[in-house]
Amino acid sequence: MTTRIHRRDFLRLAVVTVAASAVPLAGCGDTSSAQPVSTDPADVARVFPQGIASGDPSPESVILWTRVEGAAAGDRITYEIALDEAFTQVVARGETSTDADRDHTVRIKPVGLSPYTTYWYRFVGLGVASPIGRTKTAPEPGQDVPVRFAFASCQDFVGRWYHSWRALVERHPDDLDFVVHLGDYVYETDGDPDFQTVGGDRAIKLPDGLPLGDSPESGRAALTLADYRSIYRQYRSDEWLRRAHQLYPFVNVWDDHEFANDSWQDHATHFNEKQGDEKSPAQREAADRAWFENQPADVVFDEAASYPDDIRIYRGLRFGRHVEMFMIDDRYYRDDHLVPEGPADLSVGKFAANSSLGSRNFVLKSGFDEREAAARPTLLGAAQKDWLLGGVAASDATWKILGSGVQLSQMAVDLSSFELLPAQFKAKFYFSCDQWDGYRSERADLLRRLAPGGNLVSIAGDIHAFYASELHVDFDAPSAVPAAVEFVVAGISSASVQEITQATVDSNPTLSALGLGSLVGRFDSILADSNPHNVFANSLANGVAVMTVDRASAIEVEFLQVPPSAVREASWDGAVQVARFRVAGGSNRIQKL
Ligand SMILES: [Fe+2]
Repeated sequence: MTTRIHRRDFLRLAVVTVAASAVPLAGCGDTSSAQPVSTDPADVARVFPQGIASGDPSPESVILWTRVEGAAAGDRITYEIALDEAFTQVVARGETSTDADRDHTVRIKPVGLSPYTTYWYRFVGLGVASPIGRTKTAPEPGQDVPVRFAFASCQDFVGRWYHSWRALVERHPDDLDFVVHLGDYVYETDGDPDFQTVGGDRAIKLPDGLPLGDSPESGRAALTLADYRSIYRQYRSDEWLRRAHQLYPFVNVWDDHEFANDSWQDHATHFNEKQGDEKSPAQREAADRAWFENQPADVVFDEAASYPDDIRIYRGLRFGRHVEMFMIDDRYYRDDHLVPEGPADLSVGKFAANSSLGSRNFVLKSGFDEREAAARPTLLGAAQKDWLLGGVAASDATWKILGSGVQLSQMAVDLSSFELLPAQFKAKFYFSCDQWDGYRSERADLLRRLAPGGNLVSIAGDIHAFYASELHVDFDAPSAVPAAVEFVVAGISSASVQEITQATVDSNPTLSALGLGSLVGRFDSILADSNPHNVFANSLANGVAVMTVDRASAIEVEFLQVPPSAVREASWDGAVQVARFRVAGGSNRIQKL
């Protein structure tokens, strides 16, 4: 117990000390150093291979991050923050240290910065200067300014390239306030045959790894802290991801793959109950720790505590008079998926044992709804739900943005009109009960209680498609005026939902025999027929999205859509298809422009 208290106190003290050392320096303009500092690109790549990053801006602060390869406890790491890229107007300077115990990562939280101000920052460690990063503090809550931010998700690295980040930084080199990443920033597997392309230049190597099957082609999943740390290092080796971090502060939350596919609490789902329940607390804590070490999020990680007390990532961020962000954690506190993966259960359309089909994916709606109404599982957990309801109700921001890994919108697949299907499949299914559809009673309760405040906008990822939808308390009996709107961003690089579905059907003898393979090509038209609240769907896309909040009058969203074939190649012709949308204040309606 004594050790635990000491460790916690040390962590708090470290934050205070670092912050105190970054109080603005009067008349400071001298950036010279006693030691020669190398800016040779080879040295920079060797000492700062993951570049630099910033995140969670507030009016007076922003987290600054880097990783200094090989730095030990005695090595002095300095940083500077300036009002100009040439560092002639340095406003803060300080020093810190790192070591192998935190995988050589550095995070500092300077205080006393000015609101709504662009800053440049750099580190020096082991005699080498880092790349120069640019960041921006948030406006004061009362400042009447427009806000523009990008949102992104799902950046599988294996066999895939980050042209979507390039599309963003080339089209928006200097007009975003921040970037929201909604999770699946990393994937825990090095070659899951269900969705990853194995081999080639973009392979991921895990030092330890958990085999997902008997053959090498089955792929492996992260198991240890060394695995998770290694994944972040390899993902950040990407030039365009590093450049996005270099230009903009990020606001990160995790989804499932920062720990394990379709995870809930500290449980993985790799084997669909073939090996019993996959409660994996040590693995969960390793994933949390690696996330904290590598993401510039303004949260506290208590290494002496265990799940679920080691970290809390749900949090609010305020950007001027018009925007308040509510970033939620949709994994850490959620109940298990309602239908067990183990036994077959035809009452919910589950025709196979030990499968996600009928449990998490492609679940018979009628059977599920009845069971869900009785069980009322939670996705948020009681404490987070109270925080969200209270925070949105108390917010005086014009627009309340809910950042959710998984989409709120109902995503039904209605096959009832397909005459050739056997009776068992001529029905309405949920595409994924890993999304909010699996927790529909809580969703209804949330929307019912949040809607009266108006101007609630959900942004979500996870599903690997672009969707724009109007949200209803009861999607099966929509009211005249929607409760909120939602914009779902496709993956930066991950296989699109239509491609994954095609591969799933083609590899499943039961589904293939039904002829469902030919229906997958009509994915979006079936979605449109099954989900009248959906205004736009592109299920065969990669890309990134940008939201502009033009004060009180309206928001606009643009989807920057990159073809899925492009992200599988190193070279790219730069082609982007743009879709634009507008939501007038007070309307809860999406207008396609
Ligand atoms: Fe994903």
